[in-house]
Amino acid sequence: MKYYANFKMNKTVENINEYFKDFNEFDVKGNEVCFYVSPALIQTSVNATNFNIGAQNIATSKWGALTGETSIEQVVNLGAKSVLIGHSERRNIFGETDEDISSKIKLAKEYDIEIVLCVGEKLEEREHKKEVIEAQIKHALNGVSNYQNIVIAYEPVWAIGTGVTAEPKDIEEMVKFINNLLEENYKVKMPILYGGSVKASNVGSFKSISGLSGFLVGGASLNAQEFYELIKA
Ligand code: PGA
Repeated sequence: MKYYANFKMNKTVENINEYFKDFNEFDVKGNEVCFYVSPALIQTSVNATNFNIGAQNIATSKWGALTGETSIEQVVNLGAKSVLIGHSERRNIFGETDEDISSKIKLAKEYDIEIVLCVGEKLEEREHKKEVIEAQIKHALNGVSNYQNIVIAYEPVWAIGTGVTAEPKDIEEMVKFINNLLEENYKVKMPILYGGSVKASNVGSFKSISGLSGFLVGGASLNAQEFYELIKA
């Protein structure tokens, strides 16, 4: 399975070196592990042996006068193998629009990098979550012609960092819905991850969800031992 860890805005060079020294010792064979670190830490982290490093975001253009942003060209050059696009914190805190997300995907497609497109409904959208997810995916893939190497992370916004998870049967229903949507509209299959308060003690009930390829984990990935326990659970 895929176990993708989102460190968000956490850890220094020192912390990360310590973490990866420990993690390199763990046997995670048979799984795909990726850590999304802050852009400043990508280079420090690429001496990984049993995992990949990814970027948490990219700018909407390759170069230019965008103070404070980091481009796809820069993160690929630093060694990132995967990039998160459209994380709910980007959408809801930084006002990222569907248009921004679609531009970022088209830009990233010019490079040899995996794209993890994050989608998810807010609490007040729960009643019509399928429409919300459908619109997010269709906007994001608008104008994209090559669907290779794209992963969908389904993360209900109300489950992120709250300790509350979606029910396995609801996740399974959404996985089926997303699969059908991709098949009907794009004739493709993409791996689908679940994210939102996943931890070692609850991941067991999600691992058997039909069609689910893995997890995107925030809080429970910040400690190497804890994240390894989640993988092994
Ligand atoms: P969480 O974060 O595991 O802390 O809920 C998940 C995410 O934001 O991707």
